[in-house]
Amino acid sequence: MSLFIKKPLAQLIAQAGDADKGLKRTLGAGNLVALGIGAIIGAGLFVRTAAAAGEVAGPAVVVSFIIAAVGCAFAGLCYAEFASMIPIAGSAYTYAYATMGELVAWIIGWALVLEYALGAATVSIAWSEYLNNLLGGAIPFSFSHSPFEYLVSRSINGVMTNVSTEEILAGDTIVSQGIINAPALLILLILTLVLIKGTSESAGLNAVIVFVKVTIVLIFIALGWSFINPDNYTPFTIPEGTPGHEEAREHGWLGVLGGAGIVFFAFIGFDAVSTAAQEAKNPKRDMPIGILGSLVVCTILYVLFSYVLTGIANWQEFKTVGKEASVAYAIKTYMQGYGWLEKGISIAILAGFSSVILAMLFGQSRVFYSMSKDGLIPKVFAELHPKFRTPYKSNMILFVFVGLFAGFVPGSMAGDLTSIGTLFAFVLVCVGVWIMRVKNPEIPRAFKTPLVPLVPILGILVCSAMIAYLDPTTIQVAVIWMILGLVIYFTYSKNRSNLRNGRNDS
Ligand code: ALA
Repeated sequence: MSLFIKKPLAQLIAQAGDADKGLKRTLGAGNLVALGIGAIIGAGLFVRTAAAAGEVAGPAVVVSFIIAAVGCAFAGLCYAEFASMIPIAGSAYTYAYATMGELVAWIIGWALVLEYALGAATVSIAWSEYLNNLLGGAIPFSFSHSPFEYLVSRSINGVMTNVSTEEILAGDTIVSQGIINAPALLILLILTLVLIKGTSESAGLNAVIVFVKVTIVLIFIALGWSFINPDNYTPFTIPEGTPGHEEAREHGWLGVLGGAGIVFFAFIGFDAVSTAAQEAKNPKRDMPIGILGSLVVCTILYVLFSYVLTGIANWQEFKTVGKEASVAYAIKTYMQGYGWLEKGISIAILAGFSSVILAMLFGQSRVFYSMSKDGLIPKVFAELHPKFRTPYKSNMILFVFVGLFAGFVPGSMAGDLTSIGTLFAFVLVCVGVWIMRVKNPEIPRAFKTPLVPLVPILGILVCSAMIAYLDPTTIQVAVIWMILGLVIYFTYSKNRSNLRNGRNDS
């Protein structure tokens, strides 16, 4: 039987209609936009903006955000067509099963583990950093960092300074080494319990957090605007010849492109909305609104936020003194009298990161739910709690898996893997929408991607370019992950697939 056996659309749609047996339909369009924003605004905005400005883009990081948003918009338009056509849980995985067949679906599902599970791990590590920052460094280094991280005493401009690093340089004195990132594990545990209790409750909590997060971003933009120093925008890109920016991708407009790859992390998550299709009240209408609406809101906020941040502080500072907790640094240093804002922002960041982690864990458990229903992974991932009707065993297993990364791996490694997994899934979704238009033009679509095949092609190009800018080591690790996935598919999943065995357990 073909490796590219496809799940019939009629079966998928029947599955979606069979709501009584499965997940509860409780989410409206507003909830979906909130879920999207909850998943999107997080470590990417509050951590990666300054990193991209300091490392490669300078104040032109604003343009990097626009480039990344354009790539996401193309992919988002494709996601929205799929989501309105195949309104069931599972995201890009499910869409691929109907269009490109089982093997491609498996590959996407496996890539989505990088996006959702490692995304959750990455943001929980960032959460741990901000918590420690808010507590004035009260948590010992060893219990808030992975074993790959060190606290070293290093001479910076002749002054001995304690620096957290993964790379020990000549002359560094090791002060401490990480053992386990306990706060990251704690926040994962709390949010896993919230998810087990139920989707509507977690959506309610999420809405509150989203409100706080968006409010604080708006306050920063509004108050920070009058503290902008226009001199900080000149030169707009990092000039060639700047020490430490020798490589072509570290200055000028290529640096701005490199910055797009870095801030892309800030957009990850809008597709998480599509994983909730089976819990949406009116998926055909509301999924496109949820996906594109949250993308538009976030893009506007990001462009304004990064413009203000790089206007208040100079991009050069984000390489040194303002490298960590950059937003708090900019307020503390340049906005006298706004100490309350610095604290408020840190608290909102913690809340904001929580909603991102929640959405990521939610997305991952729903992808596993679909894969398990299809027989590709063990049944335990689809077992629902008798009372809460959530896939509680899957949530618990995920806690252990995500926790291994959150507790014992540095955030940069997990973050880079998240980006590559996501971009790869985006590319395949763009391909899928195009294939489907050619092969099955007759299927009704509540939302149609405009200008097919131009939009999918542009999505493929922009997202592939962002993959090309990722670090080569990350790409190698991602390739190893995908090979492992193929081994599991050919030794386990292929033989147990419900579709291949003529079963319809779904
Ligand atoms: N977009 C999410 C964030 O920035 C993953 O944290």
